[in-house]
Amino acid sequence: MISLPDFPWDRLTPYKERALAHPDGIVDLSVGTPVDPVPLVAQKALTEAADSPGYPLTYGTPRLREAAAGWLARRHGVRVDAADILPTIGSKELVAWLPTLLGVRPGEHVLFPELAYPTYDVGARLAGATPYATDGLLALGPERVPLVWVNSPSNPTGRVLPAEHLRKVVDWARERGAVVASDECYLELGWEESPVSILHPDVCGGSHEGLLAVHSLSKRSNLAGYRAGFAAGDPALIKRLLEMRKHAGMMMAAPVQAAMAAVLDDDAHADEQRERYARRRAVLRPALEGAGWRVEHSTAGLYLWATDGRGCWDQVEALAGLGILAAPGDFYGVAGAKHVRIAVTATDERINAAVLRLQ
Ligand SMILES: Cc1ncc(COP(=O)(O)O)c(C=O)c1O
Repeated sequence: MISLPDFPWDRLTPYKERALAHPDGIVDLSVGTPVDPVPLVAQKALTEAADSPGYPLTYGTPRLREAAAGWLARRHGVRVDAADILPTIGSKELVAWLPTLLGVRPGEHVLFPELAYPTYDVGARLAGATPYATDGLLALGPERVPLVWVNSPSNPTGRVLPAEHLRKVVDWARERGAVVASDECYLELGWEESPVSILHPDVCGGSHEGLLAVHSLSKRSNLAGYRAGFAAGDPALIKRLLEMRKHAGMMMAAPVQAAMAAVLDDDAHADEQRERYARRRAVLRPALEGAGWRVEHSTAGLYLWATDGRGCWDQVEALAGLGILAAPGDFYGVAGAKHVRIAVTATDERINAAVLRLQ
């Protein structure tokens, strides 16, 4: 039997009930789920592709793969052949199944950051492998490692790894034949720093060997409900994943492929969404600081990683008393025991309510 961790969000229920009891209602800043409309460009493309009776391609339409490659080149300075793009049903499923799809074996370690999105750990377990949370690769000694995850900008900390740091990870992995999977779902949400892709020539030296960048349209384009993501990178890895995914039926719905191609071609809606998050962040951050929280990292992404020095559950409780729901830092690793993660994914009206309550 595979042992999976308890679903942590259930532990937040009593605090949610407390926050819901606030006379002006809850401000839920716990989950990073988009609240703004799906861009019209996506809705239109989805509707136009609604009559899709046949099976979609696991590999994605050429139009979709061209759009993804075009977006990477235009926005991130990354040159990828459209042949080396693979659509995924959101990025969470790929994060959860990548170790299995790559053939990671029981007893092997899958590495990911000490503070991390919990699905890297789950993915290791689903493959029967051993999850290993570490920020120090050197501690591993000469052991063979099949897969290393990096995540910049980070969930939960909003930390950005500079090109030079990522390059060291790539060099380390290449020396031992490890695959580096880079979860880049917040790549377009840099505030005080500009995040860089693992596939950028400054990081990988122009070769994508052993590298996979994992992207999501959930945050950039408010498509969390559509389930739209893709992987890009090493042609041999993409081919292997494609073969496995074809057999396993892991294919994105055709209307979603059409919507995803349309949003990847369009930057206007993404810039507009970025502005919304920038505004919310600009009022929420000083309000938290004024109320005694210190915000760390958080130079990119959708979260403020904050502490008032107490245990994370005490902070969750204090905020719930104000009708504000935050995520406890220990959901993301023991190193988060004194932090809370506060998402900027609430409407302007709700963010303003939180600001008033923190005053
Ligand atoms: C770091 C990270 N990776 C992956 C995901 C999954 O996103 P999706 O499955 O919506 O593409 C999330 C969602 O919040 C995330 O924070």
